[in-house]
Amino acid sequence: MEYMYKLETVLPSVRDLVTALFICVTFFGVLHVVYTRYFSPCAPFPGPFLASTTTLWKVASLVSGEGEKRLMALHKKYGPIVRIAPNELSVSEASAIKIIYKTFPKLFKAPFARRPGHMENTDIKQAAQRRRIVGDTYSMSKVLSLESSVDLCLQQFQERFSQFAGTGTVVNLKLWSHLFTFDVIGQLIFSQSFGFLERGGDQGHIMQAIETAIHIAMTMVNFPWYLHPLVTVYVLMIPRIAARLVAIPKPIGALETRVDRAIRGLCHDAQAKPIGPERRDFLTRWFGIYAEKGAELDFGLAEIKQEVWTALFAGSDTTSIALAATVYHLLKHPACYSRVIDEIDSADGQGLLSRPCIRYEEGYALQYLRACIKEATRLHPSGSITFPRRVPKQGCMVAGQFIPEGTEIGCNPYVVHRDRKVFGDDADRYNPDRWLGPKAAEMERHSLLFGYGPRICIGRNIALCQLYKFIPQLLRDFRLELDDPQGGWSYTLYKTDKLEVRVSKRY
Ligand code: HEM
Repeated sequence: MEYMYKLETVLPSVRDLVTALFICVTFFGVLHVVYTRYFSPCAPFPGPFLASTTTLWKVASLVSGEGEKRLMALHKKYGPIVRIAPNELSVSEASAIKIIYKTFPKLFKAPFARRPGHMENTDIKQAAQRRRIVGDTYSMSKVLSLESSVDLCLQQFQERFSQFAGTGTVVNLKLWSHLFTFDVIGQLIFSQSFGFLERGGDQGHIMQAIETAIHIAMTMVNFPWYLHPLVTVYVLMIPRIAARLVAIPKPIGALETRVDRAIRGLCHDAQAKPIGPERRDFLTRWFGIYAEKGAELDFGLAEIKQEVWTALFAGSDTTSIALAATVYHLLKHPACYSRVIDEIDSADGQGLLSRPCIRYEEGYALQYLRACIKEATRLHPSGSITFPRRVPKQGCMVAGQFIPEGTEIGCNPYVVHRDRKVFGDDADRYNPDRWLGPKAAEMERHSLLFGYGPRICIGRNIALCQLYKFIPQLLRDFRLELDDPQGGWSYTLYKTDKLEVRVSKRY
């Protein structure tokens, strides 16, 4: 008893401990807020209070699904440089792209891999080295050598749309374009689609799992690593999100099995005899690099797998947004729609567009169509997020202001594509003609659609190939109408909006 009594007097009560903890957290919290808001290197830059003291403004705007619009509003209020997190700035001037993206290192944090893949590699030299190893496999000539694989999906898409045509069915074009781009990636990588177009939907919840995983990754990078367990517990308490999280491992596991099986198959075939030129998909090409000089280049089976995963994660949603955005803007602007149809019909009448599938070069040669694609993807870039970079030693000058070393800084394509200095006073308006005028080359130089500099999108030729085949083919063969002509459409990488259209055949 005497011992118990002593213990009680020596140890503080639980209540005292909680109080002490509360005082400590409050004290350090207030200290943190005062420091980040008024004394940290980014303190001179304007921005909302929440953004200057925590990453919660970023997370909230990301989760809202309209982060780009909120950021645009901030720039309108505060000017060309805005503080969007305690150590992060967003710049709205397109002239900053060259400064920020030419040499500044990327900031994605995923240091767990032996050698991280393209997306998450923060080491400039390592990233460049990997791009040198596989870069040629992504070149336009290599992509176009697989054009017949894209055609297989295009024909399947056409068959499915022919079934809808004239039935009055309302079709979600965003979904169908996503099924198309996913199947194309399957064809290009494995010489086998995922069968999404054939079965008319996401099979085995693969698309949903990838979408959720991207969403989570994009949210988590905004929190310091030590808060990840806390955020995970919090998120798991929201039943709708928890259900989606729990549904991730099964489809990703199935996908992994498929990737492993394909690589094992190649290893097996290569042991029997060298793989011939009849197999020309991406996987075979990456395997060829590994088989020929894998040891010399330090490019092993793990690196091949990384390439596959990157394409699966980065290659389909982005492209499908660009396809859907192009169609959406045309349907919203009937005069532009008729003009592009006239251009397509005229080229078709002259026998310049192949059948059954339009070739990439034929689509790309359609000047007004090209302007419509550029304009839609300018206003509606697939990755409407701020791609952050770290300011190197000595700092830098951006938009006339000095930015100190170590600051995270970036541009959001949605915002910089509306910079009036480059895109004109009507930058907020859809006007494809701007791409036919004398400022086209300058605008092109300030496009951030695919990023800029050494980390520019490695898969852009895959995307362009699909855009310049899919869009003219769809418009040549089908007449489309918005189900709700007055309604809007917004779509970001992390929030799905339907794009509902009615379809009829043109011939
Ligand atoms: C319209 C479609 C696409 C758009 C708008 C797009 C956009 C972008 C952007 C803006 C970046 C730069 C990110 C940054 O600077 O931090 C990027 C990087 C990347 N993209 Fe794409 N992308 C598209 C399609 C694809 C496809 C089809 C693939 C692959 C098959 C792909 C793979 C990648 C990879 C691997 C990177 C990282 C490159 C690096 O950091 O070195 N993308 N993309």
